[in-house]
Amino acid sequence: MFPRRTAVLRVVIVCGVVFTSLSMWISSKNSSDLEYRMRHLMQNEQSNGISQLKSLTNNTSDQADHRQVILIPPTSSRSFQPTPDSNAKHRHMETFQNFYGSLSMKDLVAFKKEFSRTERYNNSNNHDFEYIIVNKNLCSSQSPFVIVWIHTSPDHFKQRLMIRQTWGNPRNHPDGSVKIIFIMGKASSKTLQDSLHMESERYGDIVQENFVDSYKNLTYKAIAGMKWVSSYCSGAKYALKSDDDIFVNVFNLVRHLKSFEKHKVTEKVLLCNVWHKMRVLRDKKSKWYIAEEEFKDDFFPMYCSGSAYIMSGDVVKGMFQVSLSTPFFWVDDFYVTGLLAHRLDLKHQSFNSVYHFKAGAVEAFTEGRKRELLVFAHLHGLNHFYNMWNGVVRREAERSPHLLSLTTRHST
Ligand SMILES: *[C@@H]1O[C@H](CO)[C@@H](O)[C@H](O)[C@H]1NC(C)=O
Ligand SMILES: *[C@@H]1O[C@H](CO)[C@@H](O)[C@H](O)[C@H]1NC(C)=O
Ligand SMILES: *[C@@H]1O[C@H](CO)[C@@H](O)[C@H](O)[C@H]1NC(C)=O
Ligand SMILES: *[C@@H]1O[C@H](CO)[C@@H](O)[C@H](O)[C@H]1NC(C)=O
Repeated sequence: MFPRRTAVLRVVIVCGVVFTSLSMWISSKNSSDLEYRMRHLMQNEQSNGISQLKSLTNNTSDQADHRQVILIPPTSSRSFQPTPDSNAKHRHMETFQNFYGSLSMKDLVAFKKEFSRTERYNNSNNHDFEYIIVNKNLCSSQSPFVIVWIHTSPDHFKQRLMIRQTWGNPRNHPDGSVKIIFIMGKASSKTLQDSLHMESERYGDIVQENFVDSYKNLTYKAIAGMKWVSSYCSGAKYALKSDDDIFVNVFNLVRHLKSFEKHKVTEKVLLCNVWHKMRVLRDKKSKWYIAEEEFKDDFFPMYCSGSAYIMSGDVVKGMFQVSLSTPFFWVDDFYVTGLLAHRLDLKHQSFNSVYHFKAGAVEAFTEGRKRELLVFAHLHGLNHFYNMWNGVVRREAERSPHLLSLTTRHST
């Protein structure tokens, strides 16, 4: 016999609460970059669940300024017709809400007040690094629907190659609807720089600025990305920022964004995996240690996971503009999706359900219940990347058979 449903639900809720407290506690003591990201993802997944639960049990009218995003997964593969309007019929509708959740209104008001003082800064962060490589013609023949800018480092040849052979291959989108650019700082040696020039000549997808490429300078990378998109690809409808270890199911991405476009979600868009109340790391041994002088609160106000976030074209331009008068802060994802977003008064729109950062990504993206929904995964190792891509293409080929030619041959 099964226990009654309510009893099961109660157990699930209790486990959720325990797990959240546990993961928040753990997140204050951590070591490596990856662990940090994973824990934060886990923490967020839980706290998001809790805040949604809260919204069901509490009066949410004081959170009236949340924006609702309607995500409409595409129709099942069998009924899919490759016509422009084929997303018209949707079997499921899922709604994703963005609440000020666990951050109280009081915190938020205090933060906004504190932050509005920075309005007084003037060109305090003038981003005037010179381009070493610019590739300004990538979008000149045609503005893409989505421009993707990927943070990479000069020596990450393998990662870039892997992306170009898989989800970032321009042949995936013969109509030019998705374009990709790799953003980096300067190389540490002339040999490395020479090979970057060669790589750029061959692929035409590199943007390099003249700042030291280091993790404490990631904010410069993000600003470089927004600057380049604003200057040379300003006609793009949406922009995606990602990292070179992130897998993107671009087919799902484009379908989701097309449905947003259709629902007129085309301006002031900031879609991402939302952190509601992330703890600031005070462990001096951590790579992500932040001194109190740098940031005095123990929690960051709402911002996005830096692994992948999506903006509409107007937001990229707006963010680049306000970055020039927003003092540099080295935590790049918080700088962009926290500080700059708050200055533009953007509402974070939770896209949390399209991220998969647990084990078993290949299965989830190719066979799982959510395979039509998932877009982003964090993968370790080249083989996973190629396997995942082949699996995704095989799925996709059920809709558009010509895509099968895109599978990559890469074994071992
Ligand atoms: C609703 O939430 C607020 C703060 O978020 C809290 O002070 C209040 O007690 C909650 N009310 C109920 C009925 O849970
Ligand atoms: C929620 O709160 C508002 C005022 O903040 C009040 O007008 C409304 O009646 C409340 N709704 C419920 C269901 O308690
Ligand atoms: C720029 O801002 C600083 C304070 O951050 C202020 O002292 C200075 O006078 C400002 N300069 C101009 C030209 O507004
Ligand atoms: C960041 O880049 C600037 C400009 O190249 C450089 O002066 C600075 O040392 C770099 N900072 C770090 C921490 O690498």
